[in-house]
Amino acid sequence: MNETLKTLRERRSVRKYQSKQISDAELNAILEAGLWAASGHGLQSPVMVVIQDAETLEKLEKANAAIQGNPDGHPFYGAPTDVVVLADTSSYNWLQDGSLVMGNLMNAAASVGVASCWINRAMEYFDTPEGKELMKQWGVPETYRGVGHCVLGYADGEWPAPKPRKEGRIIRP
Ligand SMILES: Cc1cc2nc3c(=O)[nH]c(=O)nc-3n(C[C@H](O)[C@H](O)[C@H](O)COP(=O)(O)O)c2cc1C
Repeated sequence: MNETLKTLRERRSVRKYQSKQISDAELNAILEAGLWAASGHGLQSPVMVVIQDAETLEKLEKANAAIQGNPDGHPFYGAPTDVVVLADTSSYNWLQDGSLVMGNLMNAAASVGVASCWINRAMEYFDTPEGKELMKQWGVPETYRGVGHCVLGYADGEWPAPKPRKEGRIIRP
């Protein structure tokens, strides 16, 4: 099996992170993979906003926990980096395009030994006045909506074991 296929199999969602920050070289390699995601009509609308300062991370995590209905929760699992993926709803395939960026980020992270997890509720948050204000501060146009948070860091503990793949998901009539 080649390295790409091996990475696709071995990537896992990690839910416990060390506080140690990932290196810039690792982050840049991961972001670069996000840039290379396919997009409908080649429009490349998704943007990736890198959050590494503790204050903004905490703000985003708290808002995420509140939307989840568990205000005391830690939905970012202590990850020191969050890449927020937003995409332009004026592009027909915005959600598909943003999701592919998320996939590229997670797979690229695994390929360089960085743990990741897709965290939901970006769509709900960036639809709120607070989320829209942050987008404004970041220079992201109002037509954008949240697709996902890709949290990144070094796994604290074992890389999770894979679950068996469900049967019957390849149909070859
Ligand atoms: C669209 C999407 C949303 C997800 N949202 C969350 C989330 O909010 N929190 C979380 O811990 N994991 C989340 N995950 C991770 C999934 O739970 C995980 O991919 C699934 O359990 C399979 O595990 P694996 O990624 O290790 O193969 C999400 C994954 C996807 C694709």
